[in-house]
Amino acid sequence: MSSELSRENIRRGLGTSFIGQHILYYPSIDSTNLRAIQEARAGAPEGTLVIAEAQTAGRGRLGRRWYAPAGSSLLFSLILYPPLKPQEAAQLTMLTGLAVAEAIESLTGLAVSLKWPNDILIRGRKVGGILTEASSTSEKLDYVVVGIGLNVNFRASELPEMATPATTLFDELGCEVSRLQLLQAILARLEARYLRLRSGERFQAEWAGKLETIGQYVEVAGADGIQRGWARGVSEDGALIVEREDGQIAQLSAGEVRTAALPPAGEPQNRAHNS
Ligand code: BTN
Repeated sequence: MSSELSRENIRRGLGTSFIGQHILYYPSIDSTNLRAIQEARAGAPEGTLVIAEAQTAGRGRLGRRWYAPAGSSLLFSLILYPPLKPQEAAQLTMLTGLAVAEAIESLTGLAVSLKWPNDILIRGRKVGGILTEASSTSEKLDYVVVGIGLNVNFRASELPEMATPATTLFDELGCEVSRLQLLQAILARLEARYLRLRSGERFQAEWAGKLETIGQYVEVAGADGIQRGWARGVSEDGALIVEREDGQIAQLSAGEVRTAALPPAGEPQNRAHNS
């Protein structure tokens, strides 16, 4: 069987009931997220998959670009209509991160971790990213587009330098991986978790368990400057819970996190943690 990423191949043996059952495939497009947003506004069916071999304006978090050599990555977006409040949209990023990590681990045997808020890591290097874009009224989400970019069959040295050093599955394994099998494994796991979300389950505890930074002394560079403290956990809406040196708890909703040098006094003792 061909392992080309055609609509027919993707659908064959997919085993989902709605995720990836309606497919828009492009050899090249500006951004699968942009296309998915247009489709969601026009009422595309839930689970619609927008997938491309190349993007000319791939979007990353914080207005950054997402680069990938043509024909060797996974670049796709899914359209979802979750019955959730706007502040719960981060649950989609969480369940997607967990589904992607599980799929890579089961297919390759590599250990995958996550980095708040949306990075997928192998040995501390970024192998992929998730960009969740939502539209809502004050009370409910209208639609959510979850975009996933994964570095698969090329060398990270082909990419421009990024905030977090990059890796690819090819670099990690020394051989190519079937993008088709990996995509199908991700879609199946994503659907299973999405159905659990719809039944009321929430993923922040499991997600926090897979995040690299929890328990570490970190600094988070955000719009309001740099915040430092111990990363204690994550809230239901995806905020990173940081305990500052003065014992104050901050909930950070955006920023770039990295491990920081410990302050002279070391970790505060005998303090209740709310993670
Ligand atoms: C990040 O780490 O900043 C998120 C990157 C998300 C990139 C993917 S590639 C497929 C989809 N379409 C886009 O334009 N962006 C996402």
